[in-house]
Amino acid sequence: MRPVRGKVLIVLLMAALAAAGCRRQANRQITIGLSLDTLREERWQRDRDLFVKRCGELGARVLVQAANNDEAVQSSQAENLLTQGVDVLVVAPHNSETAATIVEAAHRAHVPVIAYDRLIRSSDVDLYLSFDNERVGELQAEYAVKRAPKGRYVVIGGSPADNNAILYHQGQMKVLKPYVDRREIEIVTDQYAADWQPVQALKILENALTRQGNRVDAVVAANDGLAGGAIQALDEQRLAGKVVVTGQDAELTACQRIVAGAQSMTVYKPIRGLATKAAEIAVAMAKKQPYEKPPRRLNNGFKDVPSFLVEPIAVDRSNLDSTVIADGFHTREQVYGAGK
Ligand code: BGC
Repeated sequence: MRPVRGKVLIVLLMAALAAAGCRRQANRQITIGLSLDTLREERWQRDRDLFVKRCGELGARVLVQAANNDEAVQSSQAENLLTQGVDVLVVAPHNSETAATIVEAAHRAHVPVIAYDRLIRSSDVDLYLSFDNERVGELQAEYAVKRAPKGRYVVIGGSPADNNAILYHQGQMKVLKPYVDRREIEIVTDQYAADWQPVQALKILENALTRQGNRVDAVVAANDGLAGGAIQALDEQRLAGKVVVTGQDAELTACQRIVAGAQSMTVYKPIRGLATKAAEIAVAMAKKQPYEKPPRRLNNGFKDVPSFLVEPIAVDRSNLDSTVIADGFHTREQVYGAGK
């Protein structure tokens, strides 16, 4: 082979290799990491399924990890997702403060992080998608004061490590404070339930009922799981249906309790829109493509985080059909039983 022809061949070969490399890069399947705190509440399974489905439709695969309500487990699962080379990490943190280390680890690996449903505080998190959580708390308390404008209140909050639980409480207190100031409402118990455990709500309410000689008029429970625990305590005293009980998530059992009259209301959060948008943005981020501009900014103690906040909806017996059921969140048969 003459030297010139040899050089040409080498150049051609290198060009072909480079082109193949580029093609591989362009065709490389996008991988999104989804790190969830828990799958205990039924909503998170829905979040996961909708998120994975939308990513799949967009040609991306999702690696899902759920941490069983344990922040150390979540942190190591996130590390593991990064090691597996995810392009974007989507996190619903167990602990809204300490999850900042997950953001740091991701950023060291040049992986952007989306805080999903729960904000990650004191961190350089790239985006936040959730519902208007303070509004959730307001809706719960507004409903309670409408039904029980005077009397003794028990407030049962969620996990104190979850930023949402703090926001729900803030929203609730904004509504309740004027009533408390006018001495129309007395908050006899105001406690957070560790890890959002229904059994904690059961114990909190059992104690409150004992101390108050069963004279409690409303239980402002932060979600349906806690409402379930509270209603169990009321049931033991034959008080279920006689005390106002709030909730959140429109879980199937909660909707059934609303129909039966044991739970007064829930807050319905249309998960489909949130999970779908999160998936679309995660994939766009991974491809370094533009995506819908976040309309709000929320301070997380470190910066104003670009945020999407979806409106929650208060649901009771009167609008179950036109919200939860009309949306296909649950079917009529599931909520009312077969034959209805
Ligand atoms: C979510 C609620 C959920 C709770 C317990 C909150 O951060 O916003 O929908 O019920 O966590 O998992």
